[in-house]
Amino acid sequence: MIQQAPFKEGRANQLEDTGDCFAFEIADESLFCIKGRDGVIRTFYNVCQHRAHQLVSGEGTTRIVVCPYHAWTYELTGGLRATPNTKFVEGFEKSTICLTAV
Ligand code: FES
Repeated sequence: MIQQAPFKEGRANQLEDTGDCFAFEIADESLFCIKGRDGVIRTFYNVCQHRAHQLVSGEGTTRIVVCPYHAWTYELTGGLRATPNTKFVEGFEKSTICLTAV
């Protein structure tokens, strides 16, 4: 991801290609929009489901969303894709975890 100050607003035409994304703020909430492989533009709270680190800064294009803190990865649809070091965590079910859509 490109490191820049977040937009204060965004437009759909900024998301032409799959994986295009940008972060922005509304009412002191950090959010990001991202275009999925299905062409759908989704908006999520910009918060990792692990320890709440910010996921996206500025704008860019990505194949997956990677948290810079502990490297949990999310699909463009917000579903949790991979979680390093959780293989032996009892009861952990990654299919039940996803980003919070707005
Ligand atoms: S806070 Fe995102 S992986 Fe830990």
